[in-house]
Amino acid sequence: MTNISNHVAFFDTTLRDGEQSPGCSMTTQEKLTMAHALEDLGVDIIEAGFAMASEGDFAAISTITQAVRKPKICSLARAKNEDIEIAARALQFAQRPRIHVFLASSDLHLEYKLKMSRQQALDQAAESVRLARTFVDDVEFSPEDATRSDREFLIDIVRTAIEAGATTINMPDTVGYTTPEEYGQMFREVRERIPAVDAEGIILSSHCHDDLGLAAANSLAAIQAGARQVECTINGIGERAGNAALEEIAAALHVRSERYGVTTNIKLDQLYPASQVLGQIITFRPSPNKAIVGANAFAHESGIHQHGMLANPLCYEIMTPSLVGVSRTNLVLGKHSGRAALRHRLEQLGYTLSREELQQTYYRFVALADRKKNIYDQDLIGILPDPIRDRRSEPAVAELD
Ligand code: KIV
Ligand code: ZN
Repeated sequence: MTNISNHVAFFDTTLRDGEQSPGCSMTTQEKLTMAHALEDLGVDIIEAGFAMASEGDFAAISTITQAVRKPKICSLARAKNEDIEIAARALQFAQRPRIHVFLASSDLHLEYKLKMSRQQALDQAAESVRLARTFVDDVEFSPEDATRSDREFLIDIVRTAIEAGATTINMPDTVGYTTPEEYGQMFREVRERIPAVDAEGIILSSHCHDDLGLAAANSLAAIQAGARQVECTINGIGERAGNAALEEIAAALHVRSERYGVTTNIKLDQLYPASQVLGQIITFRPSPNKAIVGANAFAHESGIHQHGMLANPLCYEIMTPSLVGVSRTNLVLGKHSGRAALRHRLEQLGYTLSREELQQTYYRFVALADRKKNIYDQDLIGILPDPIRDRRSEPAVAELD
């Protein structure tokens, strides 16, 4: 296969696919706030909405095109003339507009949802891409449910879309069904069987849902097989179990760069800030154990881990919190913690204890931690024997938690 560029573009669909999940709908103002955070993060393309879906989506896309200039701005459109025309209107002020046309290619969707033959789908795909190209130079085509489509027909519809003028071909795993090996193989096959892809610089794109918890792994497999655009959302929000999480893919490409060997425009230290902005806008935060951005992603409770962390953070952390914009590692004090972490926190609070004093305080601490789920700084100070509490020096950390 021909050598291709080693740059992977990030296509963020938090404002479109992400918004299509319960508790995630956003006002135009909220979408604009999020779009600014995405611009700061360095995403290459923002899918700002589905212009035909509602007046709100139309307004959000149009507003974002006028206020956010660095990324390309995209609107989704079904393979229908009216959708494409409305998408083009919503994008009229964009410096670099993209129309993203989708049409299902699996027999299941064609028969039950669209009631359309394969030939009709080919004709409609070609006509829609051609129409979109009359408005913009940058047209993405997605054969929806690509991973459950007959492979010969998938190749046919991708070839048809390219001949009609599509510049990016996205192959969605719409229902989160595929596996990394299978998804990677699909990208290799499309590149091999349609030489125009590499020869004409057509960008192949991955778009994965997380129904089997494989969305990030599948996206990385696609990149290894030649995808040069990855579609994802902040915090992995999206339909059902969500979309591939942008922060997971970006961090993996960086931490394991020796495996992937690709470049991106993502500013890693903006990952956590972008996640926080989204969490304030929608009705839920990422779960505490969510990779990269969850509250516990850099928290250590067990004594063995805390001891190792204090000796050398590399023992238990594969990236520094600051790499992804998290201010510090959190040594959480709980019933599994050891003396080393207790001493460390007390010293931060201004209390230096002798060996015996530490031992005595540790027994009290373990008894308390057995009864209480969260141990706060005030709890620690509360269990110190009086003479120790009275000899506090200037604390190394200004605030109590
Ligand atoms: O999951 C999907 O197939 C989609 C398409 C509209 C790209 O979101
Ligand atoms: Zn999707």
